[in-house]
Amino acid sequence: MITVAIASDHGGYELKEMIAGFLESMDYRVMDLGTNSPESVDYPEYGKKCAEAVASGQADRGIVVCGSGIGISIAANKVKGIRCALCTSLEMAELSRRHNDANMLALGGRTTEITLALNIVKKWLVTPFDGDRHERRVNQLNEM
Ligand code: RB5
Repeated sequence: MITVAIASDHGGYELKEMIAGFLESMDYRVMDLGTNSPESVDYPEYGKKCAEAVASGQADRGIVVCGSGIGISIAANKVKGIRCALCTSLEMAELSRRHNDANMLALGGRTTEITLALNIVKKWLVTPFDGDRHERRVNQLNEM
């Protein structure tokens, strides 16, 4: 069973809750790292927590949500081994997997409409990495 760690700040809380249910309905194991209410919190803490769960191997993939998806993706990408892609379209979700082997997805709870966001999640989870020339570039990222 694939484990997906999820986390958000208050700006992403509502979407993060919907993603949790959506993942469960598709038989993924969900590791919910909070936040657990719409009360204001700081996104760096939640981006870091989720990224560390993925980098340590406790989770296979991670999905983070803040208001825009920007702050929490910046936080996640500071953790070594993380390639977190902020996606606003199905095409970006697909390319982030095929070309970048993104192991985390970031979404904006206030900027991406819910149905599109859930479709992005699904596309991102099922799309494999193309490997080949992209593997060399991902290896270069891993060495930074
Ligand atoms: C919180 O108000 C907001 O700044 C945060 O959710 C996110 O959009 C930051 O990038």
